[in-house]
Amino acid sequence: MLRWKELYEECVNCHKCKLGDNRTNMVFGDGNPGGKIMFIGEAPGADEDRTGLPFVGRAGQLLTRTLESIGLYRKNDYYICNICKCRPENNRTPYTQEEEACIPYLRNQVALVKPKIIVCLGATAMNCILGKDWRITRDRGKWVERKGFYMTATFHPSAILRDENKKAPFWEDLKDIKKKYDDFRNQNVDS
Ligand code: URA
Repeated sequence: MLRWKELYEECVNCHKCKLGDNRTNMVFGDGNPGGKIMFIGEAPGADEDRTGLPFVGRAGQLLTRTLESIGLYRKNDYYICNICKCRPENNRTPYTQEEEACIPYLRNQVALVKPKIIVCLGATAMNCILGKDWRITRDRGKWVERKGFYMTATFHPSAILRDENKKAPFWEDLKDIKKKYDDFRNQNVDS
């Protein structure tokens, strides 16, 4: 397992797949590297590629604002990153071999952050992390415990921008995540 600086260096120099040849910036991750929640998205979009930061475009701003409205702040409470660290052209879904090339970096990030809660944002992250048999509409909001992590999935914030009907279930999922987070914090205070 690499430490943060070494891991960053590997990612920033990575050309294991074609995405590495076309990026403006590698998008490593953001937030609290000791956060108890880790949000994992799919891959950077145009705004992320331009800035080098995850979830800063329209969908990202929606997510950030919604999380703030329930008391979760990027700086303090969570770490956020993606399955793929570089932008696929035209925002297409990453190919399996691109995910496979990048996932060891994500595993290393998880090992460093040591979150209690892992939240997959959207079907791509969910299928990659929780399994190909998971269906976002059917299985979002379900919790599984694996290797000491509490894991769940919810809609990708870009899906909320496209479909108003997903707003309420998305909000419910995020509130449930906050509740789990508060439970962990209370346990730590008590012990
Ligand atoms: N969508 C993602 O999945 N990740 C980002 O960083 C931005 C948009």
